Order: sequence, then C-alpha cells, then structure tokens
Amino acid sequence: MRAIIVTEPGGPEVLSWSEVPDPQPGPGEVLVDVRATAVNRADLLQRQGHYPAPPGAPEYLGLECSGVITEVGSGVRDWAVGQQVCALLAGGGYAERVAVPVGQLLPVPEGVDLVDAAALPEVASTVWSNVVQVARLAAGETLLVHGGGSGIGTFAIQLGIALGASVVATARGAKHDRLRALGPVHLVDYREQDFVAEVRKVTAGGGADVILDIMGASYLGRNVAALAVDGRLVTIGMQGGRKGELDLGALLAKRGTLAATALRSRPPEQKAAIVSGVRDQVWPLIEAGRVRPVVDRRLPISEAAQAHRLVESNEHVGKVLLTVG
Ligand SMILES: NC(=O)c1ccc[n+]([C@@H]2O[C@H](COP(=O)([O-])OP(=O)(O)OC[C@H]3O[C@@H](n4cnc5c(N)ncnc54)[C@H](OP(=O)(O)O)[C@@H]3O)[C@@H](O)[C@H]2O)c1
Repeated sequence: MRAIIVTEPGGPEVLSWSEVPDPQPGPGEVLVDVRATAVNRADLLQRQGHYPAPPGAPEYLGLECSGVITEVGSGVRDWAVGQQVCALLAGGGYAERVAVPVGQLLPVPEGVDLVDAAALPEVASTVWSNVVQVARLAAGETLLVHGGGSGIGTFAIQLGIALGASVVATARGAKHDRLRALGPVHLVDYREQDFVAEVRKVTAGGGADVILDIMGASYLGRNVAALAVDGRLVTIGMQGGRKGELDLGALLAKRGTLAATALRSRPPEQKAAIVSGVRDQVWPLIEAGRVRPVVDRRLPISEAAQAHRLVESNEHVGKVLLTVG
C-alpha cells in the first residue's frame, strides 16, 4: 500500500506518499480501507520529531480515519467486511489501509457522509472524555473553550451547547462569523479582549465552571482567575508552553480542580471505554443534527504537505481532511 512517510524530521516538505508494507489485522482487529483521514495538531509535532508514536502503534501519522472494513482478524464479532466505519487510531491513518483494534471503531453516524466521518473520532473522544468524564460539565453551567476555531474547539462548542451549558469561546476575530453558525456562543477575540473579564461579564462575576484549555503555561494564571468556585480546568494542549507558575492560593480560594490528559498514550482498554461512551452519548447528538463535523476543507492525501502548512498557519476553522483513493 501507500502511506505518508516522514523522510526525516522537519517541515511539511518531508512528507512523502510512498510504497510501504501492508498492515495485517491481528486478533481483535479489523483492516480498514481508508477513505479519509484528518490533520491533527499532534501530526505537526510528530512530523517535526517531537511526538513519536507510542510503542506498538503504526509509525505513520494519522490519529483517525474513516473507511470500509475489508478484513476481520480472529475473534472479531459485531463487525463485518463491507461495513463503513470511522476509527480512533494511535497512528497510521495517513495510509491506504490501517489495522484497527475493534474497541476503537465507530459506525459512521447516520446523516454524515463517509469522508466527513473522519473528522469525528479524535475530537469527539477528546472533548467528551475531558468535558464530560473528567470535568463533569452539567446543564446550566458555563463552559469556556479556548481555541474555539480549532477542530477540538468547534466540537467542544457544539457539545457544550447540546449538553445545555452556556458556552464562551476564544478565537481570533476573523473566525467569529463561522463560529456563530454553530449555535449560541459568546465569542472572545483573545487578541483584542481579556477573556477573564469577558467570562466574568457573561456570568455576572461567577466565572466558568469548566475550562477546556489548549494553551497550558501562558494561560494558567488567567484560567484560574476565570474559574468559578468549584470550577474544573482541564488542560489538553500546551501551545503556550509547558512550565508555568501558579498562585495556589488563588486555586484554593476557588476550591478549583486542575486536570491534564492525553488521549493518544492511553492503553487500548481506556480508548475502548471512551469510544464506547462516545458511541452511547455523543453519536445520538450527531444523528439528531445537534452536533456536526466542521470541515474546513478536503485535500487529496498527496497534498498532505499543503494541509500541514494550512493547519500550521491556523487559518482553518474546524478540521482539514485528507482524502484517500
Ligand atoms: N490531550 C489530548 O488528548 C489532545 C487531543 C487532541 C488535541 N489536543 C490539543 O488540542 C489543541 C487543538 O487541537 P486541534 O488539532 O483541534 O488544533 P487546530 O485545529 O490546529 O487549532 C489550533 C488552534 O489554536 C488556536 N490558538 C492559538 N493561539 C491561541 C490563543 N492564544 N488563544 C486561543 N486559541 C489560540 C488557533 O486559533 P486562532 O486562529 O483563533 O488563534 C487554532 O484554532 C492542540 O493544542 C492539540 O495538541 C489534545
């Protein structure tokens, strides 16, 4: 088969669509003929040599895909050749075929086409596990989403609204019109406005009950300042650095909780439990049209370098998909 290989760590030009050995499905796995994959921020880091695949994962980039099952490994029940699926991957999505543990498979939601389904597994699993499982967002609470225009952010805004929360999101002003189309969300142009003041304004001084953070160090103090009493701050990205300083007195005064998680390095059993929760609780929201994949554009996988340049520029809103075949 062909896959995108990283010829050496570096810029987008090191991505090459090349012949590689075909994967074989092991026990409890299926082989998926990939129709589309998506560019995630982590792919840019892996390309640069900063985020190697976890042990046992395929070495190629690609944390999610959609496609058709073409082979089932031993012990596989419930999934059959010919079924259309999407999947959460530890790697290997930028390829014509990938072997997937069945616990990481999801059916294509009704009403979503096969290519767009590649936009869902990573964001649905990350957002649901952090906002619902870890931070326990409840109806009537306020959710602050940083990076509202990202793949993660566009999904988190919609899920927050669907769960009955009031949603505030940070994003550069040029993205606000496209984000308003997702539903009622208070948008903050973080380049022009102070998000702490904006959150306090919309919550009558109360603060955000849950914050989904992708900035890390540079937002740590301000995130704690924006938290409500009993608030929960979950960091999933470190785009603003990994080492910060925190006044623990400020956190203590809020009775706040800080959490940080990574999805890719979780063992398969934990991924399977998250995927199962997503199927039970998030898929019905997608099938009801209350949450939808937000796709900035589709590019053929042979243009993966161009797709990485686009995501690096942060000009996109939602997901950038790579189509295969
Ligand atoms: N821990 C996990 O398991 C996990 C899983 C998936 C993703 N992630 C992380 O989640 C983040 C989003 O991932 P993605 O693939 O969806 O990213 P993406 O689509 O590439 O988007 C990155 C976003 O960062 C925003 N941004 C940059 N500086 C900002 C600032 N100062 N304040 C607010 N937003 C800012 C950009 O928006 P503007 O154009 O508005 O600046 C852009 O929308 C990444 O950090 C990624 O590593 C973590």
